[in-house]
Amino acid sequence: MSAREPVTPRRRPPLALIGFMGSGKSVVGALVAELAGVPFRDLDQMVVAQAGLSVAEIFATRDEAYFRSLEKRLLPDSLEPGAVVALGGGAVLDDESWTLVAERALSVYLEVSFETIWDRIHGQPGRPLLAGRSRAEVEALLERRRPRYMKARRTVDGDRPVDVVAAEVLQLWSA
Ligand code: S3P
Repeated sequence: MSAREPVTPRRRPPLALIGFMGSGKSVVGALVAELAGVPFRDLDQMVVAQAGLSVAEIFATRDEAYFRSLEKRLLPDSLEPGAVVALGGGAVLDDESWTLVAERALSVYLEVSFETIWDRIHGQPGRPLLAGRSRAEVEALLERRRPRYMKARRTVDGDRPVDVVAAEVLQLWSA
């Protein structure tokens, strides 16, 4: 690339959205990608496509370790330069995975209050980590994960309308 060539969106490092279940990573990510005119990657969907099973089916017929191994294996492919990537809520807990995300992507934590998260996700089908867990237990899971989420390069208040959140995320990525 010559020194004068403009940096186009496709050459930016990927934008990796991280955060707890129900924080809006997929919805915000798809909107940011649409606004920026770049590809959108959803790591959960990549895992589902690879396994030929839904996330819930993977947990039910195999186990969480199998899901995590697929998630970890597909992570590098998801981090495509210029793309917006929604990572599953547990995808950055593995230290090697987190290092890869931190090195390759602009990581953005969508921080959403537990009240909002719980309203969105409780009773929702297809969320195996919620099965048999009380509200307090899910909140405790969020608290255990929060220190990792807080390591993201940027944190955005996700407790606002999706278009407002997406516009802010896009602005961060464009800066
Ligand atoms: C998980 C979050 C889910 C999915 C799986 C496990 C987690 O993705 O990867 O159910 O460990 O938090 P979303 O965060 O997109 O719901």
